[in-house]
Amino acid sequence: MATAEFNLRDFQSGRGVGQGGTAVLRRTVRLIAISLMLLIGLTATSAFSAGDAEKGEQIYVQRCTLCHGEDGDGMGPAAERLNPPPRDFTMAQYKIRTTAFEEIVPVDGDLVRMIHDGMPGTAMPGWSDVLTEQDINDLVAFLKTLAGLEEEEPGQIIDFGAQVPISPESVEAGRKLFHEDDRCSECHGQSGKGDAVKKLKDDSGYRTWPRNLTKPWTFRGSNDPRDIFTRITTGIAGTQMPSFDDPASEGRLSIEQRWNIANYVNSLAKTEKVVRPENIVIRATRVAGPVPVTPEDPQWQEAPSSTFLLVPQLITPDRFFTPSNDTITVRALYNQDEIGFHVEWDDRTRSIPGDGAAKKISEPGLSEDAVAIQLPVTLPVGAEKPYFLHGDSRHPVNLWFWRSGSTTADPSVSLVTARGSAGETTARDADAVGLQGSGSYHEGTWQVVLRRSMTTADPAEDLQFVEGAFIPVAFSAWDGSNGERDSAHTLTTWYWLLLKPQPGNTPWLFAGFAFVLILLIEIWWARTATRRARS
Ligand code: HEC
Ligand code: HEC
Repeated sequence: MATAEFNLRDFQSGRGVGQGGTAVLRRTVRLIAISLMLLIGLTATSAFSAGDAEKGEQIYVQRCTLCHGEDGDGMGPAAERLNPPPRDFTMAQYKIRTTAFEEIVPVDGDLVRMIHDGMPGTAMPGWSDVLTEQDINDLVAFLKTLAGLEEEEPGQIIDFGAQVPISPESVEAGRKLFHEDDRCSECHGQSGKGDAVKKLKDDSGYRTWPRNLTKPWTFRGSNDPRDIFTRITTGIAGTQMPSFDDPASEGRLSIEQRWNIANYVNSLAKTEKVVRPENIVIRATRVAGPVPVTPEDPQWQEAPSSTFLLVPQLITPDRFFTPSNDTITVRALYNQDEIGFHVEWDDRTRSIPGDGAAKKISEPGLSEDAVAIQLPVTLPVGAEKPYFLHGDSRHPVNLWFWRSGSTTADPSVSLVTARGSAGETTARDADAVGLQGSGSYHEGTWQVVLRRSMTTADPAEDLQFVEGAFIPVAFSAWDGSNGERDSAHTLTTWYWLLLKPQPGNTPWLFAGFAFVLILLIEIWWARTATRRARS
């Protein structure tokens, strides 16, 4: 039954946290559908033999060697570009399992689950759409031969005791245990964001990061309390994540204590800062007074936030494969004179060149943390946008940079106009156009404000902001401790900025309508093109 329970929990988990009623409904429907599928699957599976290692090998060669390697040692052609690296199956180490701390052999259901669902936050894809339950059973049988486990009995499943339900009291008890003697905060940070105080490596010498527990979409297992309880109990094999049920350890916790911590961690793994694919427009809010200067100013909360996916820059040299930041959250406020962006992203390390402590937790070549906002110099017609990486010769872009500084230099703001990624870049005088910025780092999160006047003296070089127009905007971020500098960084695609005008502004309504119409035509066109390409 372990498989069914775990798959269910996974889908019940917070992968759609904060997405409102329809998402919950959709999830419930999906859950029922999956339960039925699994029930049928399970009955069907019991009719099959446990899994045929030879057949599994054939599937493995076809599907898994790219990452896990022909010999199963994790050294496939794609491996050198992945962090975390693909698992070396000869080591008999499985991260997400339900068998007790000292047991080596997982139950088949543990491996089935990981192959079926994949491991969020890593390159390990889920295979449920591609492979049948029988294929997956065959694969499991084959994987066990790689570690010489085929004859072994699976280990003892951990003792779940009586689950402590989520309640304010349990979460509070868990919060205390999490911080007591820095039990979990030592690695996961004061607010659970995994902000590093030391450099962790896994057993094979690869850099590992304590999980950012506020980001449920990066949990390899889910953020359901039962899953978290299991991780705390077994630890995560091959990494520094310890077991808190190791009989030989002084740090052993009771079952009740582990449930309380699990409930607390579950409460951390809920965030409003989730990517909503439908959210492509940043709505800048008009304020009566000045645009706030500091990132902590509570007025920023008046603007709705949008969270976007940051992906590594893979287009131009130096291409970059191992990012550490995955999302960026943006707000915007403006008045008749000025516009300000508030950008916020989790970064586990404050990267300060020249600082000894920062160097200790950094990859070689420590540089500043930084963020950039990209805007077109001229407002595009309709839904047309400049090339997303630094524009192009006919469609130049403005890049507003904020850099975090070093032990000898203050944080800085700069401005360039770019005409294509290989093309000409002109450094400009940020002061002259009134571009200003400030940043603050607190417990694993950077918040940066960049402000500029709505209009400048040079429309040929600077974007002139106007109300009611859909303005393309994109973002880049650099984690200086992660070897990110120059073109090695993460970035978003183009999104839209809309300065929401005063109510009752009809010209804006028409502009908005025209824009939506163009967008719909584009979507229709793209769909027909895809259909034509398929047939
Ligand atoms: C695109 C790369 C990629 C491909 C293809 C891939 N994997 Fe993985 N796999 C990974 C990575 C990366 C990890 C390690 C993730 C981690 O350590 O958090 C992993 C981990 C695993 C694990 C370990 C689970 C655990 O609990 O530790 C299993 C089992 C696994 N893969 C099976 C497979 C099978 C079977 C296939 C083929 C059907 C496959 N993988 C294909 C990248 C890949
Ligand atoms: C010595 C450092 C260290 C300590 C102490 C520690 N962790 Fe972790 N933890 C890690 C690392 C490293 C990972 C990521 C492992 C990996 O690479 O998959 C992790 C991962 C996790 C995960 C992720 C599970 C998943 O499904 O992805 C959870 C939950 C977690 N830790 C909870 C805790 C709790 C709760 C405590 C305290 C009771 C704790 N950790 C103590 C280092 C630590």
